[in-house]
Amino acid sequence: MDKYVIHGGKPLYGDVSISGFKNAAVAVITSAILVEGTCVIGNVPKISDVTVHLEILKRMGAGVRLLDDTTVEINCTKLRGPKAIFDDLTRKTRASTYLMGAVLGRFGSAHVSMSGGCDLGSRPIDQHIKGFEALGAEVEIKNGVIHLTAPNGLHNSRISFDQRTVGGTINIMMAAVRVPGQTIIENANKEPHIVDLANFLNAMGANITGAGTDVIKVRGVRRLHGGTYHIIPDQIEAGTFMAAVAAAGGDITIHNIIPKHLECIASKYEEMGVEIEDLDDALRVRRLGALRRTNVKTMPYPGFPTDMNPQTAVLMCLAQGTSIMTEGVFQDRFRYVDELRRMGVRAQVDGQIAVFEGVGTLTGAPVQATDLRAGAALIIAGLAAQGVTEITNIEYVERGYDNMVEKFRTLGADISLVRELDDAEMLVNA
Ligand code: EPU
Repeated sequence: MDKYVIHGGKPLYGDVSISGFKNAAVAVITSAILVEGTCVIGNVPKISDVTVHLEILKRMGAGVRLLDDTTVEINCTKLRGPKAIFDDLTRKTRASTYLMGAVLGRFGSAHVSMSGGCDLGSRPIDQHIKGFEALGAEVEIKNGVIHLTAPNGLHNSRISFDQRTVGGTINIMMAAVRVPGQTIIENANKEPHIVDLANFLNAMGANITGAGTDVIKVRGVRRLHGGTYHIIPDQIEAGTFMAAVAAAGGDITIHNIIPKHLECIASKYEEMGVEIEDLDDALRVRRLGALRRTNVKTMPYPGFPTDMNPQTAVLMCLAQGTSIMTEGVFQDRFRYVDELRRMGVRAQVDGQIAVFEGVGTLTGAPVQATDLRAGAALIIAGLAAQGVTEITNIEYVERGYDNMVEKFRTLGADISLVRELDDAEMLVNA
């Protein structure tokens, strides 16, 4: 079994550069389905979720070419019809739900296997379906496949989501891009990757306004042409490095970021005693003294991101006093707590609330990642802990973090990736 082996207790020093945003990349790549022309997309992170989405496009008949390490050229002009079932691939990511909006928007119908992604409790798609139906689609789920058809064609509409949904907002934006007239999406999410997707589609000829606010207006255009686009940096990867230096101590500078996207994380960490300096295009993050207790409630952007819940919980465990983490987005985000308990964490979880008693020091242990961000939290705990931590189920981490081990090693961490080949172990980072 592949694993990360960490000898903890070393502070982090130096510079790290953040990769392109996973959640923007998978949305932008999938939305290239709507474009008849060549899209050149830069700052694409090297992660397995991106590989899966490029593979889906290839199977649908798209031309996909890597121009360099982080730039991909996609041409979906000759895409084969609306059938994109591929259960083996759609199960691997949550963002495969975007195939519904993109394929429906391009061909007027779509047949897509249900998606997978991290298990964070029930992840229904009722709001996506509500939006597609408002646009005139008929939706039927049979044998694990979502069938979207529009016998009378799609038409513009006003959709008001009953609750905030990132995926629903993205899907309806994609489906509406080529629908005549103006579609209005109310109670829309405002996450940076929603704005990034709108910017990408606009660069390809779409007419989307209001992305980043509660109300997004999509005026349909006849077709989208090709172009060049650069994905925004990953706010959650940046936040993960902020949490890592806060936990392990040290002084690092994080480059290739948009400071505005990190404001909420930065102000909470400052409250906990972390020193943060905004250098315009970089953040210097230092933790010299003890961490102070705090309370956090995760919320849609610009609130504190749910995808920073587990990493921040590690800081709560190391802080002086008792802290409370309330999960405001997902039903079941605290499965990582049992793994942290193996490292000496004292916590009580009741539904969407976890109470962490600051224990000051953690001790290394064998642990398993339970999802992507949980895996990141275990790495952070391992970096801060005394002794050796071995983390398995690391395929979760590889889904969403580009070159994580190498980046931490550059900062002075003692972390190695060990690949297990049959019965012999191979150390990848010697
Ligand atoms: N929800 C519904 N009905 C719907 C849609 C959502 O009840 O029709 C519920 C969900 O069950 C959840 C909440 O609404 O409890 C929020 O779900 P949302 O649709 O906003 O999330 P998502 O689109 O499934 C994206 C990210 C997640 C991130 C969340 C919240 C991608 C590919 N995924 O998921 O990223 O946690 O938004 O910000 O963009 C990650 O990167 O580790 C990750 C899980």
